[in-house]
Amino acid sequence: MSNQIPEELIEQIRGANDIVDVVGEYVQLKKQGRNYFGLCPFHGEKSPSFSVTQEKQIFHCFGCGKGGNVVTFLMEIESFTFYEAIKHLADRTGIELPSDSIKTESSLSKENQQILSAQEWLTKLYHHLIRYTKDGKIGLDYLNERGITEEAIDTFKLGYAPNTKDFIATFLEKKGFHKQLLVKYGLLNRNQDNDTVSDRFRGRVIFPIRNHLGKTVAFGARALESQEPKYLNSPESDLFQKGKLLYNFDLAKKHIRKQSEAILFEGYMDVISAYQSGVENVVATMGTALTDTQAKLLKRYVDTVIICYDGDKAGIEATYKASKLLQQVGCQVKIASLKDGLDPDSFIKKYGGEVFRREVIGAPQTFMSFYMRYLKKDFNVSLDSDRIKYLEEVLKELAKIDSSVERELYINELSAEYNITAESLLEQIEQYREKSGSEKDKREKDRYTNKGQKSSGKLLPAFHNAERKLLAYMLQNRSIADKVQEELGASFNIDEHKIIATYLYGYYEEDNPEDVSLFIDRISDENLRKLVIQLALVPTQTEISDKEINDYLHIIRAEGSTGVDIKQLKAEQRLAEQQKDPIKAAQIALKIIELQRQVKH
Ligand code: GTP
Ligand code: MN
Repeated sequence: MSNQIPEELIEQIRGANDIVDVVGEYVQLKKQGRNYFGLCPFHGEKSPSFSVTQEKQIFHCFGCGKGGNVVTFLMEIESFTFYEAIKHLADRTGIELPSDSIKTESSLSKENQQILSAQEWLTKLYHHLIRYTKDGKIGLDYLNERGITEEAIDTFKLGYAPNTKDFIATFLEKKGFHKQLLVKYGLLNRNQDNDTVSDRFRGRVIFPIRNHLGKTVAFGARALESQEPKYLNSPESDLFQKGKLLYNFDLAKKHIRKQSEAILFEGYMDVISAYQSGVENVVATMGTALTDTQAKLLKRYVDTVIICYDGDKAGIEATYKASKLLQQVGCQVKIASLKDGLDPDSFIKKYGGEVFRREVIGAPQTFMSFYMRYLKKDFNVSLDSDRIKYLEEVLKELAKIDSSVERELYINELSAEYNITAESLLEQIEQYREKSGSEKDKREKDRYTNKGQKSSGKLLPAFHNAERKLLAYMLQNRSIADKVQEELGASFNIDEHKIIATYLYGYYEEDNPEDVSLFIDRISDENLRKLVIQLALVPTQTEISDKEINDYLHIIRAEGSTGVDIKQLKAEQRLAEQQKDPIKAAQIALKIIELQRQVKH
């Protein structure tokens, strides 16, 4: 154990690191009542069941059951040892650990530790060469020529690998690293003779690729002239997988969180150019298509991703693919397009950072308007048959948009452009919506076994929403729960809501505090627990008027009573039909319609 670090110091370090901040570096947390909620980083999920309680400095996932404090969180998510977690927290808050506290154990293999250390040395060496030496001047000139500032060179620890046979090889061997290992991780090349080694990166500008903790895990090395390959990268290894990492994520993540938006580029140079001109929430993939892992990583931090890929054909194709992937993991996608087939870096060079910020990043397109243009290239819309096919594809996509206001915007646009009435476009969309609506319902049902749980409250019937709102307030506020108990008891229409209300009354009667995470401990049914968390996340106001509560109660009661009435009437209607009394049946049908309308209002 790490008894080298005094217990009081550990306490001091723990105290200096608020769990909400530390977890917030990995999970987008939303405050609800006394707790924070987000998507659990330890298991895949689409609705949040991961909670953090600031008061108690603990986290708990109601989905997978993981829980603990700030130290165990880091041990879990980073596979840190206890010492490493404490060290990380100490570094985070500028607390010094006693120098004699020895790292007893590491979570990394010996090999990985050595390679990380070699790469750290190399990062410093390459950087030193470009900044301060004659040998590196050619690299520095290259970057200056491209408009990269010294500050950015320092921030990104850019460097230069000299065009030498074994300068680096000798340097690393002198430091005591084993050459086999260096070859294995692609820091050196093995020579023909199979015995000696030589430098791998020669005469290239070096871009250290850092992981989310800022450690160099690989290098990208760019040729100064139009030499092939343009970028020579470290090979993939257990420390570096292109598809799992986003370039610059370590520096960007705090900006991403602050701005609730991430900007996604294709290349290193795009990131660096944007960053130095003040757009800092920027990351990039590294020459491969965005992967599911990367999309999920982004989703953990933000809801909205702005894709800003090259303006050429390949870039547009990649934009479409990345959009789909990001939407699949639940991100809202916007597209910042660049004119004249430029890439972000060359755009910034040509027009300046200010124009880039204002006109490109500041004015992104919605996915839909991008898609409408993207799709057009496959059709010759001056032909009737193609135009119809094109419109059908567009309408299918439009049908997926939940906001009717937004849908209408595009409908009007299409209606004007193709001279088709908005009504007929709308009708078509409604058909698609009905179809996909029933599929969506089914999917939702499969996801949760209990009914009455939809992530978007918008499409629920009024009474259902009223019940959810009311329960959300009851979870936060004992006196509202008391009032509802008195006036409604357990007469909610949705069975699950009945059960939750009953539990909650009991919970408050035992004089327990208004605390969702405590309340949840009393519920053993997994699905009910998830529902309670969802309810706790229903947006509420800090002040709610009696009138609003009464309105909810009214809607809930109305549904309860009309539910019975309509059922009764339907039975009477059937009877009338059996008795061959069409007039009576029609009268009853009218009554039913009238009642249904009342419920809606
Ligand atoms: P510049 O030409 O220096 O502006 O590079 P860029 O950052 O604009 O790169 P580009 O858009 O051409 O390519 C996007 C990304 O793909 C780069 O940042 C690299 O990560 C990767 N990439 C590009 N060319 C190569 C290559 O030849 N080999 C490898 N392995 N990766 C490459
Ligand atoms: Mn470029």
